[in-house]
Amino acid sequence: MAETRSAFALNDAGMAQFRRLVERYPTKQSALMPALWLIQDQEGHVPPEAVDWLVEQLDVSAARVHELLSFYTMFRAEPQAEYVLQVCHNISCHLSGARPLLEHLKQRLGIGIGETTPDGKFALEGVECLAACGMGPAMQLGKHFYEKLTPARVDEILESLRRGVVPRADTDRELAE
Ligand code: FES
Repeated sequence: MAETRSAFALNDAGMAQFRRLVERYPTKQSALMPALWLIQDQEGHVPPEAVDWLVEQLDVSAARVHELLSFYTMFRAEPQAEYVLQVCHNISCHLSGARPLLEHLKQRLGIGIGETTPDGKFALEGVECLAACGMGPAMQLGKHFYEKLTPARVDEILESLRRGVVPRADTDRELAE
């Protein structure tokens, strides 16, 4: 691994995972996406010093890191709410009930889209396609995906999250091991 001047560091477990990732790909630049997940898992977001660290470790440009951070809605450059609920409002999900579902969530959480509850627990976002178009309405919570959602299921999910338990998802997309 490259010597680092950045103020960022992964913890020991994260660093071991990072080393395995870099070995797995044909070029170290290819490990950028899963490395971003690792950092976000540790920090809750990807802080500027972690961008510098990635530039040093993976020999990528800062512009490339920022490009991924701004393109993919699952990555965060800023500190975030404990649970960020991202509801797809693209056409397939829209046709299967995304709008009333979003209204239900807004009412239950007492916030609008793009807002965070005063206790910092929940944020609500409307996002474009989550690649679950036949299973809408769909919602993403980190790496967890909930599909064919109904208001009742959303209530169950919120209830569980309020107790600090992430409920079993329909799909978990693990991008880093
Ligand atoms: S349109 Fe909602 S997941 Fe594709």
